[in-house]
Amino acid sequence: MKSILIRNIKSLAGIRAAGVSLVRGAEMKVLPSVDNAFVLVENGLIKAFGPAKDAPERADEIIDATGKYVLPCWCDSHTHIVYAGSRESEFADKINGLTYEEIAARGGGILNSAKRLNETSEEELFDSALQRLEEMRAFGTGAVEIKSGYGLSCEGELKMLRVIRKLKEKSPLTIKATFLGAHAYPSLFQTNHEGYLKLLIDELLPKISAEGLADFIDVFCEVNYFSAAETDRILEAGAKHGLKPKVHINQFNVIGGVQVSVKHQALSVDHMEHLADEDISALQHSATMPVALPGCSLFLKIPYTPARRMIDAGMPLALATDYNPGSAPSGNMNLVNALACINMNMTSEEVINASTLNGAYAMEVEQELGSITPGKKANLMLTKPVSSLAMLPYSFGSNLIERVIIG
Ligand code: NIG
Ligand code: FE
Repeated sequence: MKSILIRNIKSLAGIRAAGVSLVRGAEMKVLPSVDNAFVLVENGLIKAFGPAKDAPERADEIIDATGKYVLPCWCDSHTHIVYAGSRESEFADKINGLTYEEIAARGGGILNSAKRLNETSEEELFDSALQRLEEMRAFGTGAVEIKSGYGLSCEGELKMLRVIRKLKEKSPLTIKATFLGAHAYPSLFQTNHEGYLKLLIDELLPKISAEGLADFIDVFCEVNYFSAAETDRILEAGAKHGLKPKVHINQFNVIGGVQVSVKHQALSVDHMEHLADEDISALQHSATMPVALPGCSLFLKIPYTPARRMIDAGMPLALATDYNPGSAPSGNMNLVNALACINMNMTSEEVINASTLNGAYAMEVEQELGSITPGKKANLMLTKPVSSLAMLPYSFGSNLIERVIIG
């Protein structure tokens, strides 16, 4: 039994009672904390915390956190970090004025990544994704959801999901796998959408389910990708295999993705750079977590998710990186938080809640991660000595995370 005592903590933040699964609306402005605190970890779990005067005297390892903050690690609930190669040539196209949609129409975009992925070995995919995970961990991330969706063929999608399964085994981070076969219509099926839907529903889903390769199912519900009706069909099929939806919606257009997702009791709806009033009311009456991806807004120069409208309407909100080669090539949650403060007018407390407990909810790990709660897994980060927690998003180009403890 190994114990770790972190003591003399300037402030221990993100404390929640057991059973609090998310924070919404005005609650997001509050980040419960204890100043001059200790936290005790035993066997990888948070055992106890409190004011310094109550700290135990002994532990196998003692960490002095004078001047530093301790927080639960970031829970990054939306990424595509299994991919081959990169797309910096499209970056140049974008600088020269082409939009994401124009680049995709020229054979770039998701299809470009799919071509490369199908030419790349499982080992190479694993090695590069593990490297990305390590970098994310250094930025304070302790849990990551990873999507398939660059295979777009039976072999390619299964290969991606097997890579994610291996990452679950080899990485200390908590990882969830999402099947995103419906990310784009592959070249072979450009004029045969029905054929691809059948491949996804009748061939791939049963295999994925039999091998237990996915925790969730996702669809890119968007003009030129998958319509609301197609999304409905795919989510329906996923439900038959016990896969809860997490859905890409409203990135460029509002086409009914929110309503379909809510109908299927989606765990999360992600993007929402565009949002209709009807979408807000549909989400208000649901248990679905909205997830904003400000790194994608920055990179594609598209609108930011209207966080104030949502939070001020009493809704919860989570933040994630969307780490992928085409629309958000960064896994830095500190940058995501800074962008949400600067461009979405969220407060420091709101972004921390959105990136910890609400992120955990959006990947269904809120019972084990996302807050300082006895019994939860001890995924903790220590900051460098800083004057206040607002320094984290304020110093948008720096990594002020000094140490990350995973269990
Ligand atoms: O979340 N929008 C769909 N999927 C990704 C982008 C994928 C890509 O361009 O490779 C996203 O932004
Ligand atoms: Fe995405």
